[in-house]
Amino acid sequence: MSAAAEPRALAARALAAVVGGASRRGVAAEYTMLHDPRDRAFAAALLHEGARWWLRYAVALDGMLERPLRVPEVRALLVLGLVQLEVLRLPDYAAVAATVAATRALGRPRHAALVNALLRRWLRERAARCAALDADAVTRTAHPRWLIETLARDWPGDVEAVLAANNHAAPLWLRVNRRRGTRAELGARLAATGVAAAEPAALPDALVLAQSTEVTRLPGYAEGAFSVQDGAAQFAAPLLALADGLRVLDACAAPGGKSAHILETAAVELLALERDPARLPRLRQNLARLGLRCTVHAGDAAQPATWWDGRAFDRILLDAPCTATGIIRRQPDIKLHRRAADVAALVAEQRRLLAALWPLLRRGGRLVYATCSVLAAENREPVAAFLADHGDARPLPGPPGWRAAGAGAQNLPGESGMDGFYYAVLEKV
Ligand SMILES: C[S@@+](CC[C@H](N)C(=O)[O-])C[C@H]1O[C@@H](n2cnc3c(N)ncnc32)[C@H](O)[C@@H]1O
Repeated sequence: MSAAAEPRALAARALAAVVGGASRRGVAAEYTMLHDPRDRAFAAALLHEGARWWLRYAVALDGMLERPLRVPEVRALLVLGLVQLEVLRLPDYAAVAATVAATRALGRPRHAALVNALLRRWLRERAARCAALDADAVTRTAHPRWLIETLARDWPGDVEAVLAANNHAAPLWLRVNRRRGTRAELGARLAATGVAAAEPAALPDALVLAQSTEVTRLPGYAEGAFSVQDGAAQFAAPLLALADGLRVLDACAAPGGKSAHILETAAVELLALERDPARLPRLRQNLARLGLRCTVHAGDAAQPATWWDGRAFDRILLDAPCTATGIIRRQPDIKLHRRAADVAALVAEQRRLLAALWPLLRRGGRLVYATCSVLAAENREPVAAFLADHGDARPLPGPPGWRAAGAGAQNLPGESGMDGFYYAVLEKV
């Protein structure tokens, strides 16, 4: 296999699996077999951009085919060919030649001539074909129509900015483990290895790296000096107004990013609850790497009778399961996997969780409702319904500077460099 063909072939196989329904993280093993870190990074970038732009370039491909192409890996390879030309802007003929070579590396030599012919035709016709794709919002922005329409309804003045932000690379946010050192110390260690990091004023534990990198190679990773966590998610712990000795529930805890931040912030008695037992080992590993301890339990937060000991909580974090429409820039496969029909079931679960957890909160305590969604149906609407049903709930302010969204606050993707995220802080009066 030629050196240039291998990452392309592996990325094509992985992309075909993602388009077929697999999660992008789940297929990453496809290219970890590549020895050269540059090849691994290139394959990862191809897969990321291929998922991000699938809804544009799969349509572009179909427009050039006389008969449907039924071999998923070759279809994916061709889309990656277009992505190399149009998104990564690789030199035309080198990209075409390497993609043709990858057809053979995929074990599909009979498709090599077709791949070559289609990519060369694209180069001849690209201007007209791009103009045609740009005429429809779905193929212009590579988002599903249901999502574009929902965003247009929920955020009429911001829909274009949200769609554009979703197609942009996100910066790498770190959260310093206060128990292992200060932000300034970690910043200095990173600077000593040539990695520049900004210190945002609004978040005392955050460092922002302009470019993504293999975090396990950064100084301090193995010894738990920091975690990777977007800035928007770093507001959860401060919004809980933590203090030593409080009894805290993290109701939807895996993989433990916010549980860890809670434990780093104050000496609280934390119960990290998670419904899916398969997600608990990772949560435990994360806490162990950071040198943190709490009670970890598998259970359904909406059924407290099965796990609650009857002692009220001072603080509850409900980081609810959601459409994840706020983190598409990091997980572009959400565009391919999420369906309009998923929203109603998630909303029902969010409402069920809110109603079930409220009785567990002591008077004067607070519950923070959080989602990484930008949809009103998952954010301001369930919170408004909850407030209408619960006269003992009073909303408190969300993160400073975020936009008001009903009783809570919303950050849209890319704003302040952060993910799309929603918080509603509810005090029990
Ligand atoms: C948004 S993720 C939580 C992320 C986590 N808080 C963090 O910061 O790393 C939502 C989690 O809730 C879990 N979950 C969904 N429904 C649940 C329920 N009814 N009870 C407990 N956990 C649930 C999911 O399995 C998933 O791990």
